[in-house]
Amino acid sequence: MKKDQIISILESNDLFHEWYSYVKDIIASDEFQIRKLYPHHDDSVFHHCVLVSFQSFLIARKIHADHRACAIAGLLHDFYPKAWQYNEELAKISSNRIRGKSNLFHMHGFVHAKEAAKNAQKYFPDVCNSTVLDAISHHMFPLTIIPPHHIEGWIVTTADKLVSVQTLDVKMIPRLIGLGGVLDRFNMGERLL
Ligand SMILES: [Fe+2]
Ligand SMILES: [Fe+2]
Repeated sequence: MKKDQIISILESNDLFHEWYSYVKDIIASDEFQIRKLYPHHDDSVFHHCVLVSFQSFLIARKIHADHRACAIAGLLHDFYPKAWQYNEELAKISSNRIRGKSNLFHMHGFVHAKEAAKNAQKYFPDVCNSTVLDAISHHMFPLTIIPPHHIEGWIVTTADKLVSVQTLDVKMIPRLIGLGGVLDRFNMGERLL
């Protein structure tokens, strides 16, 4: 399999090989690879999650938290089953992979963390221990009120926001905090909720 560009970039970090040993099987799986076609703002879910995983791993290693759990939870934190933005190429492969319109209380920002945890457990049960699942389930805190129960969850939710801030402009802040649906209702564009 051809190496992904983002993986090649991370390879220059001294800690790359340790991180990669924890996540390479997930990254290589078809179910994770298809996230290259799941849009994430102006990025892909694949690219975003690889960065959150690596950032979470680095923070955890520095503060002596469970860095393996952080690498895995970071990678799977947005592993929800259906894309919430339209992508033509993905639609051609399977229209079932694209979320339809939903009401305000089922907006992506409020529901996708739980969906991601359920989906992660479905596809990768061997690596989804309670620390990993807690970090995935609560990564949208404070939007989803209940905070993570472990330090690893706090690391992943922080890394998610750091990576998002690095890749977004100010106009996108409502989307960053999970209120993309509100923006979409006003700006519509081609997004589907
Ligand atoms: Fe998320
Ligand atoms: Fe995220």
